[in-house]
Amino acid sequence: MDDFGLFRDVLDRGGYSASNIAMILGPNEFLPGDPVNTRFFHYRAGLGGTTGTLIRIFLTHTGTGVEEARQALAPIPLEDWAAAGFLELSGDTVRGRIRLHTASDVILAVDPAEAASRPDQVMGLTQASLLAANFTLRRPVNRFLDLGTGNGIQALLASPQARQVFATDVSPRAVEFARFNARLNRRTNVRCLAGGLFEPVRGQLFDQIVSNPPFFISPDSRLLYRDSGMRLDGMVRQIIGEAPGYLNEGGYCQLLANWVHLKGEDWKQRILSWQEGTGCDLWVLRTEVLDPATYARNWINETTGGAENPFDEWLRFYEQENIEAIGSGMIAMRKKTGGANWHRIEEFTPVSPAPFGEAVEQGFRLTDYVNGTSDAELSRAVLQGAPGLTLNQHARFDAGRWLTEAAEIRLTSGIPFRAQLDQNSLRLLTGCDGRKTFGEVLSGFPQNAWPSCFQVARSLVWRGFLLPA
Ligand SMILES: C[S@@+](CC[C@H](N)C(=O)[O-])C[C@H]1O[C@@H](n2cnc3c(N)ncnc32)[C@H](O)[C@@H]1O
Repeated sequence: MDDFGLFRDVLDRGGYSASNIAMILGPNEFLPGDPVNTRFFHYRAGLGGTTGTLIRIFLTHTGTGVEEARQALAPIPLEDWAAAGFLELSGDTVRGRIRLHTASDVILAVDPAEAASRPDQVMGLTQASLLAANFTLRRPVNRFLDLGTGNGIQALLASPQARQVFATDVSPRAVEFARFNARLNRRTNVRCLAGGLFEPVRGQLFDQIVSNPPFFISPDSRLLYRDSGMRLDGMVRQIIGEAPGYLNEGGYCQLLANWVHLKGEDWKQRILSWQEGTGCDLWVLRTEVLDPATYARNWINETTGGAENPFDEWLRFYEQENIEAIGSGMIAMRKKTGGANWHRIEEFTPVSPAPFGEAVEQGFRLTDYVNGTSDAELSRAVLQGAPGLTLNQHARFDAGRWLTEAAEIRLTSGIPFRAQLDQNSLRLLTGCDGRKTFGEVLSGFPQNAWPSCFQVARSLVWRGFLLPA
């Protein structure tokens, strides 16, 4: 048994967890080279006892005195922490050689801010890492692949759901970090392999593939975690094209993606052309679309810490490439050969950072249901509102009675879809009470309205507002 987990035990006893850190520091996302915040969080950590000391060593990276560190990291001697790669021991101050980020029950070693200029910097957790984790289906699987693992976050989070997890990265340094983190978290079923994209697992099949790849679009190719070195959205296109060859039937590939909106080209058609011939159903959830200037500004702020400013160069590139906007979002594919494949493209604004993988899986099931159910079958089905479905109505008092002017339904968990309903759709929705068949609900409507009622019911089920009971 690997005793690297003993280091983890000390961190656990010292209260080094995502929730404790958030309690002591408040909301905290460290950007490289952010001196004011660093001092602010160093100060806050000073109020946090042993956990605060660990934060100063491993998160703010501002360090503590030797005796204080010795106590917080006991019973393992400081020298052993240093020999294992956790600490720098120089003079009177003890600091981490790495930073330790936390997510769920996982603790991850990542590069310190000083490494920001390295092309192979192993970056810390970002909003994108957490979005990818929340998007991931959490069903039990045999073989799981994390493509572009970096610090290993997606692989480590998948470890409890999979018999075997493979984590690949083109950067040997990232693979080293992922391996270190698998040991630190006692994830014994994670294998970390170096190589570009699918190269290290050529010829193998998986039940699930997840990737938060370097999807960023610019002329730059300097940072491994950000720049794929491929033209425009070539990295996303390549993963969509190659992943199906590595999926078992019924297996899923999920990735975060950016794609270009070119002048004169329909961006949806661009993505759909990548689906062709894959033998997969495809679901795109677009979270954002930005004009090139805003996109460039955001990424420069986030990834260069203001140390350099390639803004004008990038803008010239977007202009030359005919890019009028850049879309971001999540793409899920499911391998389904031997029949027609469907696609969905929708908008999705995550409202709170909670897992919604189950809703993604449900979305695939409901789309199958809607596509595979005839009107006659739907008439015999019993439908009911989804748990947590809310209905908001605006009514106006007119000539002695209340008239509903607008009705909006919204899902409060999973994927927070919302929709405006007209009077008929509202009646249809509220008629589906989990007891009557849809045919019985339909009988309350004039026959000439039935075709549109079927359509409305299908779109309500499709989005998960109504569920087959
Ligand atoms: C955005 S980071 C994601 C890290 C981590 N998976 C996460 O979710 O936070 C992208 C990772 O992909 C790796 N990468 C870049 N190009 C790659 C390639 N061609 N094949 C495999 N991995 C690659 C980078 O080294 C980096 O670790």
